[in-house]
Amino acid sequence: MIWLIGNKGMLGTELSNLLESKKLPFVGTDREVDITSEASLADFARSLKEKGTPIAWIVNCAAYTAVDKAEDDRELCRALNEEGIRNVARVARKNGAKLLHVSTDYVFHGDGTRPYREDDPTDPTGYYGLTKRDGERAALAENPDTWIVRTAWLYGRHGNNFVFTMLRLMKEKEAISVVNDQRGTPTWAFDLADAMVRLIAAGSLDPADNKRAAPGIYHFSNFGNIVWHDFAAEIYTQGRALGLLAKDCEIKPCTSAEFPAKVRRPPYSVLDKAKIAAALTAADPAYRIPDWKESLASFLAKIEK
Ligand SMILES: NC(=O)c1ccc[n+]([C@@H]2O[C@H](COP(=O)([O-])OP(=O)(O)OC[C@H]3O[C@@H](n4cnc5c(N)ncnc54)[C@H](OP(=O)(O)O)[C@@H]3O)[C@@H](O)[C@H]2O)c1
Repeated sequence: MIWLIGNKGMLGTELSNLLESKKLPFVGTDREVDITSEASLADFARSLKEKGTPIAWIVNCAAYTAVDKAEDDRELCRALNEEGIRNVARVARKNGAKLLHVSTDYVFHGDGTRPYREDDPTDPTGYYGLTKRDGERAALAENPDTWIVRTAWLYGRHGNNFVFTMLRLMKEKEAISVVNDQRGTPTWAFDLADAMVRLIAAGSLDPADNKRAAPGIYHFSNFGNIVWHDFAAEIYTQGRALGLLAKDCEIKPCTSAEFPAKVRRPPYSVLDKAKIAAALTAADPAYRIPDWKESLASFLAKIEK
């Protein structure tokens, strides 16, 4: 049995749907089992045990994710992103469960010149990134059976994200400006959910099996390497072709200086995905990390006009 925490968020909803479609036994909770309270987590774990459904995996998608707001809302941000995941990891260990947790490219400084590897030094520039980094450390220290997937530029069907914002602005305006000095890779939540389900399967194998994905940190985003302006331009091209956008809109490049934010956005946050690609292809040689343009097309094809 998988216990999916944060099942109503953008990634959590996608994972819920995927687990359901694959008929994998799971139970989902969100705010009603508060991760900032170890007692509520322990009570819920106990209730599952009493029902005769022991937990094999806890998957945590709950987090404080408002990057700029976090600067003023430090207590709550830390309560979720560090203390909350520490509680989850502890309850996982006490119940003999493996833990799969989600983290972010914001743990890095973001001024790299080659894709970030899992063992590159972290150096977050904002409070959100700092608490996510501290949460990674807390989870790994609390439960040795912990898998962490760092991801970036997440978008999906459920919740606000860049793709929906761009489509709305492109409908409303004659021209929009999008930054061309921040490089990274989009991640469709469906592809991340799929990779996570595969990682659970590969992590569940016997430790003696050489196809097993070992506990530790993994990076995942879609395949490719672009700036936000490229992403917006492609959303426009595909949106027009699909009839989601009925009129012209000019997509102008601009610099980050034109969009001042409380937290500096990483100029370079491409993630090196060789480790997860190797782990997932060991289990399924046909597996490929989907290309960002193809995933965008699959996502847009599901949106109603
Ligand atoms: N979004 C991105 O671009 C991005 C990029 C890189 C990494 N990530 C990471 O990916 C993961 C999933 O992100 P997401 O965008 O899917 O997040 P999300 O949509 O904000 O979902 C988080 C869920 O956790 C719930 N929650 C809040 N406080 C809780 C508590 N005390 N106890 C239990 N649940 C609580 C939230 O409820 P409410 O909605 O009611 O608050 C929400 O349903 C996070 O770890 C995030 O750091 C995200």
